[in-house]
Amino acid sequence: MKAAIINGFGDVDVLKYEDIKTPKPRPGHILIKVLASGINRFDHYIREGSVVPELPFPHILGADAAGIVAELGEGTNSFKVGDPVIPTAGFPTNEKEYHIRPAATAPSFTLPGLGIPGTYAQYIEIPAEWVVKDETGLKPEEEVATLPMVLATSVRALKVVGQVKAGDKVLVQAGGSGSGSMQVQVAKALGAEVATTVRSDAKGKVAKSLGADLVINTRKTDFVEAVREWTDGLGANVVIDNLGGDVLPKSIDAAGPLGVIVVFGFVAGTETTFNIQNFFFAQKQLRGTMAGDIEDLKWGLEQVRTGKIKPVLDRALPLNQAAEAHRLISNNEVTGNIALLPWAA
Ligand SMILES: NC(=O)c1ccc[n+]([C@@H]2O[C@H](COP(=O)([O-])OP(=O)(O)OC[C@H]3O[C@@H](n4cnc5c(N)ncnc54)[C@H](OP(=O)(O)O)[C@@H]3O)[C@@H](O)[C@H]2O)c1
Repeated sequence: MKAAIINGFGDVDVLKYEDIKTPKPRPGHILIKVLASGINRFDHYIREGSVVPELPFPHILGADAAGIVAELGEGTNSFKVGDPVIPTAGFPTNEKEYHIRPAATAPSFTLPGLGIPGTYAQYIEIPAEWVVKDETGLKPEEEVATLPMVLATSVRALKVVGQVKAGDKVLVQAGGSGSGSMQVQVAKALGAEVATTVRSDAKGKVAKSLGADLVINTRKTDFVEAVREWTDGLGANVVIDNLGGDVLPKSIDAAGPLGVIVVFGFVAGTETTFNIQNFFFAQKQLRGTMAGDIEDLKWGLEQVRTGKIKPVLDRALPLNQAAEAHRLISNNEVTGNIALLPWAA
């Protein structure tokens, strides 16, 4: 089969398009014919070498995919060949840990494209336990392929960790990003009012079209002040911070007393400092979130099926242009998510 592989860490040029052996599904596993692969910034971090210090090369990146069942391993009776399916973008690989929740706390938890071969390929082998039937009715597949990671992690961040409820005022950082564009929609599906930040009017327009009630261009407006005004001086109930670095202290400031700040990402940096006194006097809570469970993905897909949440596909490129796709992500030139088409080249 064709795959985009890396033989070492480095710049986008380490991504090569090659022929490799097609996997055979082991017992309990399904071979999925990948119709589209989704790309996330996380793949870019792995490629750079900033997630794990080593990998067995050659390595296939990619956690997200949409496809159809191509072959069934022994004991996988709940699927049939040809079923449209979506693999979960992270799960425990040790069967004895399949029951652990959150799944990301299981010692054997990993992602396709990290601990097992990823989705930038024409076929991928996934344990049947972690495959869901695609009942969204969505076409084309490249839209579906953008969903698993950003949808499951956003549901987890807002619904489970942030405990967002109807009427809450929620701030989502980077509403034009892959994760932020989902988080705006998940917050709306939970009945919240949503403010979001962007750095360009073009991304702001997209965030607005996804239902954001207030879009703040941080190149023109201070978001802490804008949120304070929007909440009549009270501050946000929940802030989803995808950015980290020097943005996180301001996210903490934008939350009101008892406000919850969910730490989700580190695009702006992995380290920061903030005023502890202000933080605990206002009894705020800082909560980390990592990945999403299969139940979060299923809840999110139900919102997609009923039209409350839409994929945000920037563009789809043939698989042999994986390096170009990574270049677009590195340069923040993507709105929403980007997909690869393994059968287009
Ligand atoms: N916790 C989890 O389970 C989980 C799951 C998925 C992703 N993540 C993390 O979440 C983060 C976002 O991932 P993603 O896939 O959504 O990324 P993405 O689609 O590449 O978006 C990143 C966004 O950050 C904005 N940005 C970049 N540098 C910035 C800066 N210095 N200040 C303000 N905004 C900046 C860019 O928008 P503009 O250039 O237009 O401003 C861009 O839209 C990553 O750190 C990722 O690892 C975490």
